[in-house]
Amino acid sequence: MSNINPMPREEGFDHTLSLMREGYMYILNRRKSFNSDIFETRLLGQKAICMGGKEAAEVFYDTEKFKRKNAAPNRVVQTLFGKNGVQALDGQAHKHRKEMFMSIMSSEALEKLIHITKRQWEQAVEKWEQLDEVIFYEEAKEIMCRTACEWAGVPVPEDKIIRLTKDLGAMFESPAEIGPAHWLGRNARNRVESWIEGLIEEVRNRNLNPPENTALHKFAWHRDLEGNLLNKKIAAVEVINILRPIVAIAIYINFIALAVHHYPEERKKLESRDEKYAEMFVQEVRRFYPFFPFVAALVKKDFTWKGYKFEEGTLTLLDLYGTNHDPELWENPEVFNPERFAKWEENPFSFIPQGGGDYFMGHRCAGEWITIEVMKVSLDYLANRMEYEIPEKDLSYKMNSMPSIPQSKIVIKNVKRKM
Ligand code: HEM
Repeated sequence: MSNINPMPREEGFDHTLSLMREGYMYILNRRKSFNSDIFETRLLGQKAICMGGKEAAEVFYDTEKFKRKNAAPNRVVQTLFGKNGVQALDGQAHKHRKEMFMSIMSSEALEKLIHITKRQWEQAVEKWEQLDEVIFYEEAKEIMCRTACEWAGVPVPEDKIIRLTKDLGAMFESPAEIGPAHWLGRNARNRVESWIEGLIEEVRNRNLNPPENTALHKFAWHRDLEGNLLNKKIAAVEVINILRPIVAIAIYINFIALAVHHYPEERKKLESRDEKYAEMFVQEVRRFYPFFPFVAALVKKDFTWKGYKFEEGTLTLLDLYGTNHDPELWENPEVFNPERFAKWEENPFSFIPQGGGDYFMGHRCAGEWITIEVMKVSLDYLANRMEYEIPEKDLSYKMNSMPSIPQSKIVIKNVKRKM
């Protein structure tokens, strides 16, 4: 009488090595070979369910079925997330904290961010004009670090910018690394957290007055559901949850440079400076190139979906990259084609480079709108506002390095501002 289906299962003791080897393709490869959007495997010594596609995303973002507390591996918490941040909260506590994040994403705040980003690009281009060549990824991170700090109300002495850029970068470059490269990320987090904790104290002592509506101001004065100020360590983790991902937009900016370089016909279309086309291009960059491979949650309580049994506490991964490359959802998913977004029917579960579902009720990325706007400004510079050359080196990028950036990094030469 039971209509429980056995879930396709990858046999073997543990498949963490295959995951590391295949990277972004790990879940998609098995979804293809099992001909199933869901399968069971073993990762990091435990049973795990992997799934992808629109319907899987819909169930994954059902907060009655999944929770985030203790879902992320320690190595990710120690580098990328920080402890006790919004990513690991559930229920009302999550909703309340998420509102704090969304409260700084107003349209005026977005305008301010666009303005700062443009100014930082102008200053960077001016600097690059004086140099023989620059390593683009490193420079893009610095542009974004300066932008992030100014927008968030975080004062940084000029002689600390390079160190801070490196530290914020190490937090998202190190989670999947092993050995010293991983420890670089942990040390960077410890350093930045204690510095920001000091700033939170200064704000609370009124020795520092960042503009209202900035992250530093809002988060320092935010009160939890019991009416208490956030513990200063947690407030620091949350300010870093603004600074770090803004710096990480450099990864997408890097891919914009690569796309403009690889698809000269696109560059021609971008010359028209059509806002709509620029947005389609940026969306396609977010769909096409690898960034976050998947997100993790734990089954909150036993349930059955499509006849498959989900047992409480089971680690479940939702395939972000694979959903954005799902042939059921995207025509010729391996072709870079911004035009596809002209007739795209917006859906919160089919296009999920920054997570899916609802911003306020769920864990979808708080900075998605920001990311798109910053990418549009950056695209305008790369396609229209400067001339430059990219020497032909190995510009391929690996599908098993997270995050993925071109092998030789992109070098740009002979930069000239275009009027
Ligand atoms: C650089 C490009 C970015 C990518 C690829 C990205 C991707 C993501 C992903 C995949 C998640 C997790 C979604 C989930 O757990 O279901 C997330 C969450 C989050 N992102 Fe982003 N993000 C980016 C930029 C930003 C920016 C610019 C900000 C803020 C300024 C930001 C702030 C956050 C926060 C606070 C969360 C946690 C949300 C929650 O747990 O409720 N992200 N992001």
